[in-house]
Amino acid sequence: MTFQTLKVTVDEGIATVVIDQEETLNALSRQVMDDLDACFSWAALEPSVQGVLLTGAGPKSFVAGADIKQFKGMGPEEGKAFAERGQAVFARIEQMPKPVIAVVNGFALGGGSELALACHMRVASNTARFGQPEVNLGIIPGYGGTQRLPRIVGKGLATELVLTGEMISADRAHEIGLVNHVFAPDDLMEGARKLLRGMLTKAPRAIALTLEALSASDLPLERGLQHEAALFGQACATEDFDEGVHAFLARRKAEFKGR
Ligand code: COA
Repeated sequence: MTFQTLKVTVDEGIATVVIDQEETLNALSRQVMDDLDACFSWAALEPSVQGVLLTGAGPKSFVAGADIKQFKGMGPEEGKAFAERGQAVFARIEQMPKPVIAVVNGFALGGGSELALACHMRVASNTARFGQPEVNLGIIPGYGGTQRLPRIVGKGLATELVLTGEMISADRAHEIGLVNHVFAPDDLMEGARKLLRGMLTKAPRAIALTLEALSASDLPLERGLQHEAALFGQACATEDFDEGVHAFLARRKAEFKGR
């Protein structure tokens, strides 16, 4: 698949999606957003893709935010539509039935931090920096930052990050649960690949159903549990469930077919 602003390769079930706009530190222009939308729509349905690693081109930046040039002269209606469009693209990523890992290789600021938050997991190089600097521009996070950040790191820490606009280091991001693992820059891609590869040995339908169940963890507990039970039932209808149980009892390795 080719996209104007993304480089996409697929290898052994893993799609590596690189936002390839190094000259603007991979800022999220309208074209990048359109390409991400199209790319994740494709990846969700493409059978050769079982999981996605999302990163930015170059050694300096994952994504340095929304393209600030687009903000000039933006009025209230346009601003609302701008946020809604970004939220819809990021929701598509969050709702992927295959694991998506943000591989944060440098600055993850504003929309870049929000993009990482919309992925299912985040890993970072020890040079990465996270921040929500919108208040410095007189705006607020509009691509989910005020909603997903508190859900991941808790409301107190999220409030501090969003109100100060300060950047934090990869180690601090790790400490507060914003990233799962921190690697040396040279080990980052392989570390992310290894994490994803481990998941891709499991039953693909179970992975998809688990991701769907996890997305219900924001619902009130009772509703989330109902959702979990319904999805558990769906997992029991798969051939892979049969295979997994039989393989365990026969003391052999399961051979999952994704059905
Ligand atoms: N939108 C558009 N262009 C951006 C950008 C953004 N969010 N972030 C960086 N760029 C561009 C710069 O304008 C510059 O372009 P130029 O060479 O044509 O002038 C280029 O990327 C390199 O950035 P520069 O600022 O020169 O690098 P730096 O090392 O001095 O600083 C940052 C790096 C990330 C600290 C700084 O670029 C920055 O603060 N960016 C904006 C972050 C932000 O506020 N994001 C949230 C937006 S809501």
